Amino acid sequence: MACGHYESALAGCDTSFSVDASNITFGAGCLAEAGDIARSLGITRIALMTDDALVATPHVAVVTESLKAAGIDIALYDNVRVEPTDESFQAATKFAIDAKVDGFISVGGGSVIDTTKAANLYSTHPAQFLDYVNAPIGGGVPVPGPLRPHIACPTTSGTGSECTGIAVFDLLEMKAKTGIASKLIRPNRALIDPNCTETLPSAVVAASAFDVLSHALESYTARPYTHRPAPNSPSARPSSQGANPWSDLGCAEALRLIGQYMVRGVTDASDSEARHQLMWASTLAGIAFGNAGCHVPHGMSYSVAGMVKDFQPDGWPVGEPIVPHGMSVIVNSPAVFRMTAPHNPGRHIEGARWLGAESEDIGDNEAGEVLAGEIIRLMKATDMPNGLEGVGYEAVDISGLVDGSLPQRRLLDNCALDVDREVLTSLYESALSYW
Ligand SMILES: NC(=O)c1ccc[n+]([C@@H]2O[C@H](COP(=O)([O-])OP(=O)(O)OC[C@H]3O[C@@H](n4cnc5c(N)ncnc54)[C@H](O)[C@@H]3O)[C@@H](O)[C@H]2O)c1
Ligand SMILES: [Fe+2]
Repeated sequence: MACGHYESALAGCDTSFSVDASNITFGAGCLAEAGDIARSLGITRIALMTDDALVATPHVAVVTESLKAAGIDIALYDNVRVEPTDESFQAATKFAIDAKVDGFISVGGGSVIDTTKAANLYSTHPAQFLDYVNAPIGGGVPVPGPLRPHIACPTTSGTGSECTGIAVFDLLEMKAKTGIASKLIRPNRALIDPNCTETLPSAVVAASAFDVLSHALESYTARPYTHRPAPNSPSARPSSQGANPWSDLGCAEALRLIGQYMVRGVTDASDSEARHQLMWASTLAGIAFGNAGCHVPHGMSYSVAGMVKDFQPDGWPVGEPIVPHGMSVIVNSPAVFRMTAPHNPGRHIEGARWLGAESEDIGDNEAGEVLAGEIIRLMKATDMPNGLEGVGYEAVDISGLVDGSLPQRRLLDNCALDVDREVLTSLYESALSYW
C-alpha cells in the first residue's frame, strides 16, 4: 500500500520510509539551556567550536556562561573556517584530539556545525581523511559506530545542519565541494535560539533564506521514495530517501514562511518577528531535507562554490573570494525547476503558490515558468546575483562546472529525471543569467 497520495512502489523499489527526528529545543533564549543539556549527556569537558567573528557575540557568551554554571570544563576553538575545507576539518580534528574532550558544542552557522561533526567523527573513529567521504570522490566507508555527544546551536537561518547527518567541505585539490553523509554524524541535540538571527548581516539572512527555500523545494520535488531502489537491508536505507509524506509537511510550511517573511527579514534588521520565523522555516526545512534529500540545485552548487574566481559578495563578513552556500545554490534553482516541472507539475505549482504566486489558474505546462518566476522575484527583491554570471562565471567555465558536479551522485540521483553530462551542461547554460 502506498501512503497518502504517493504512487504505489515501482518494482524493486522501497515501500517504506524512515524518519530520523532530531532532538530539538526551539525558542528565544534557549541557548541558556546548554549547560543543563551537556550535563544530562554526561559531558565533563566540552569542545566549544565557533568562528572568529562569532566568538565575540552574545550567543557564545550565553553558552559559555551556561556551561560554566553547570560546572563543565570548556576547550574553546574559535578558528573554524567559514565555508570549510578538508584542511580546516583536519585542523579542527587535531584540536579535538589534543583537547581530550568528551563532548562537543557548536555555536555558529553551517560552517561551524559541519566542522564540529567532522572533528567529532575523526577524533572518535580515526581514519584516512578520504575514507568517510562520499563515493566516488572518497571511499564511502561506513561510520563504524556512535560518536561523542554533540549539541548544535545554529546561529544562521540557515542550513538546517543541526538536523542532518551531512558535513560539507571544499576539497581543495579538486576545487569542488563534497561531503560526508551518515546518520551517525547527526548532532544528538539542537538548541535553536531565534535571537541569534538579530545580529546577522542582511546578506547572510538572504543567502541562508535561499538555502532554506531550495532545501524545501528540492525535497518536495525529489524522486518519491517509492521510486528509489529498495535497500539491501533496512539499516542501509539512505537519508536521501526521496520525497515522502513526513518531509512534505516541513517543506510546505517552510515555503509558506519563506514567501511571507523573507523580504521583510532581509530588508529590515529590526523586524525580529520576520527573522524568528525564518529560523523556524530553516528548522522545518532541515528536518525535511534530512529525511528526503536535496537534488540538482545543490549538486550543481558544489562546483559553483568550489571554483570561485574573484567574486566577493557585498555585505559578506569574510574578505576573500567566496560564493556563499545559499547563493551558490539559488543561482541554479530557477533553471532546474523549469526542467523538472514536467515530471510532477502539481508539486511545482504548489511550491509557487506557497512562495506567493497569486494567479488563480496555473496550467501544468506553466508550472516550471511560474515557479522559476517566483524565485527570480525574490532574488531581485533581496539583491541576489543574477545567475552564474552574477557570481563571476562565463559560458567557457561550464565544462569545468559540469566536471565538478557530475560526481555528486547522492544528490543527482535523488532527482525525478536522469541527470547526465548533457543535462547538466544545458542547466548551467540556462543558469548563466535570468534577467
Ligand atoms: N550539513 C548540512 O546539512 C548543510 C546544509 C546546507 C549547507 N551546509 C554548509 O553550511 C555552510 C554555510 O553555512 P551558513 O550559511 O549557515 O553560514 P556560515 O556558517 O558560513 O556563516 C556565514 C557568515 O555569517 C557569520 N554569522 C553566522 N551567524 C551569525 C550571527 N548570528 N550573527 C552575526 N554573524 C553571523 C559567520 O561568522 C560567517 O561569517 C556551507 O559550507 C554549506 O555547504 C551544510
Ligand atoms: Fe543547503
